[in-house]
Amino acid sequence: MPPAPEIRSLTPDDADAVADLDTEAFGYPAPTGPAAEQWPTVGSRAWGVLRGRDLVAAAEVRELASWFGGTAVPTAGIAAVAVRPEHRGTRLLVPLFRQMLADARARGEVISTLFPTAPGIYRPLGYEIVGELADVEVPVASLARIPAPEGIVLRRADPDDEPDVVVRRAVYDRWAAAQNGPLTRQGPQQRPLGREAPDDWDTVTLAFDTAGEPVGYAAWRRTDGYQGGTATVTVHEFIALTGAAAAALWRLFGGFESVAGTVALRTSGGDATRLVLPAAPWRPMRQWPYGLRLLDVVGAFRARGAAPIDATLPFRVIGDGLDGTYRLTASGGTLSCEPAAADGPAFTGRGLALAYAGVQSCANLRFVGLLSGPDTDDARWDALLGGGFAIRNYF
Ligand SMILES: CC(C)(COP(=O)(O)OP(=O)(O)OC[C@H]1O[C@@H](n2cnc3c(N)ncnc32)[C@H](O)[C@@H]1OP(=O)(O)O)[C@@H](O)C(=O)NCCC(=O)NCCS
Repeated sequence: MPPAPEIRSLTPDDADAVADLDTEAFGYPAPTGPAAEQWPTVGSRAWGVLRGRDLVAAAEVRELASWFGGTAVPTAGIAAVAVRPEHRGTRLLVPLFRQMLADARARGEVISTLFPTAPGIYRPLGYEIVGELADVEVPVASLARIPAPEGIVLRRADPDDEPDVVVRRAVYDRWAAAQNGPLTRQGPQQRPLGREAPDDWDTVTLAFDTAGEPVGYAAWRRTDGYQGGTATVTVHEFIALTGAAAAALWRLFGGFESVAGTVALRTSGGDATRLVLPAAPWRPMRQWPYGLRLLDVVGAFRARGAAPIDATLPFRVIGDGLDGTYRLTASGGTLSCEPAAADGPAFTGRGLALAYAGVQSCANLRFVGLLSGPDTDDARWDALLGGGFAIRNYF
């Protein structure tokens, strides 16, 4: 009989064993010397499953926050999940996640998110895909036809100039707070100011309106030569607060028509900057699905903002460790939620994740069996929580 698994939080003494596990699972280069930074990193908690002295599975929790309905929701971001090949298929993830997520809940993290390598791994653990980070390709030629919008001035940001860094940060914050899903990029996991974008070495172009207010930016890089048909402009982040700012930034990339064929854009969901494109091509090249689950039904709804409509919505949750009956009260854009005897509709845990994220209508949840019972409040649920989803960070 193999020894029973022991689940515990990991410490710096476990760093080498975890590096070995991750190298094998993800194909990272084997570490050659002492680690460059402390492990677990600030704002991360690491958990492991041990059989005897052997570390056979591990995962990390990142202390994050995500915007929903205009408020920041404390989020346990899961990363670096790996099981030793000899121990795969033995459901070690179930007790590992139970303990890891109970700890997250006790710390006040009310939802959890992750980028699964396969959605099937995390469905049994209550996560559902609510969005995706994606790389899309847009032909440069179509951008060259965008007329210059009036009243937008573009300027190159200076990465060492603090006001420029603050401007970019402010644009991200305004954009992110108006979406469901994006990370706040604050707290212990935050990268240094000015280095929040996926790539530290990007050129950043800022867009300002006639009043001098910042209304957008693009973080981009030129790659692979100047053969007009084949070369690429890679845009790691493109945030616009107005259609005119989006048009001006797209047009900037149109200026590469003679030397590049494609803009490769990192984006997600129904990106509003697409609405100003004159041509249809928007070719998805690569996707990173993003999963979400609630950890605490009452806490998650209390933490989330919503549309400014008034409603009292009884509901029930079945499964994924969230079983209970509740009453959700919406007033003036804020939500309260408490356990209550309720005869309302019944969400499965995964159905509730999709509704909470604002990405599926109640009708669609019923279609796939993730919501059942009375449908009289369906339109109110949709109006309260709906609104699309966006994510711009990978972790
Ligand atoms: C992914 C990984 C952690 C799963 O470990 P495991 O020991 O097989 O997991 P479990 O036995 O606990 O299985 C959990 C569930 O995931 C499912 N699953 C496992 N691998 C899967 C895959 N590649 N695609 C779809 N579902 C998968 C299992 O069928 C099981 O579902 P079930 O309970 O409904 O049967 C392991 O294969 C691994 O370390 N892979 C390499 C690294 C990796 O991909 N990590 C995930 C990063 S997000």
